[in-house]
Amino acid sequence: MVSEPKLSILFTAEQIAAAVKRLAAEIRRDYHDKNPVLIAVLKGSFVFLADLVRELNLPLQIEFAQLSSYGHGKESAGKIRVVKDIQGDIKGRHVLVVEDIIDTGLTAKFFLEHLKKKQPASVKLCSLTDKPSRTQVKIDIDYLGMTVPDKFIVGYGIDWDERFRYLPDIRAIEDES
Ligand code: IMP
Ligand code: MG
Repeated sequence: MVSEPKLSILFTAEQIAAAVKRLAAEIRRDYHDKNPVLIAVLKGSFVFLADLVRELNLPLQIEFAQLSSYGHGKESAGKIRVVKDIQGDIKGRHVLVVEDIIDTGLTAKFFLEHLKKKQPASVKLCSLTDKPSRTQVKIDIDYLGMTVPDKFIVGYGIDWDERFRYLPDIRAIEDES
């Protein structure tokens, strides 16, 4: 049987919705006339992206990329690679990367550098959450939803080994027994 970890709610669906609304207002102010390309990093950011674009309600393009950093479990595999690259051309475009969580920062740093080689007009980063206690490389998060404590989080698209993405709120894993 799969063990059931104890989960505690960190952010309710209402708190997340308020954060998304605030982020959308900031992004709209900066991008309303820029027809930006939002690049969502799969899979964890799919719920956030869906809520964000509807709250933004402005002309934009969407691309998806998938990176691998974590294998199974909760520790980074350390090596990052592009599993699925974006399809569209972003040369000369204003790009906004949409992430679920910045943990060590290694994935975001790698991906921002990867995108810059494609010569966009600008690249900025929007992340729903940041876990500053785990930072290994300093990343400027241009639009940040909320800071999370040094705990493994799940829900609202974010998984633990593909589990718990469906939860409407964000929860912390308190133990694994
Ligand atoms: P980083 O390269 O260490 O910043 O890790 C980034 C990726 O690791 C995120 O996009 C997530 O997929 C995953 N990750 C890091 N921390 C958590 C967590 O607390 N819950 C679920 N996934 C996480
Ligand atoms: Mg993940």
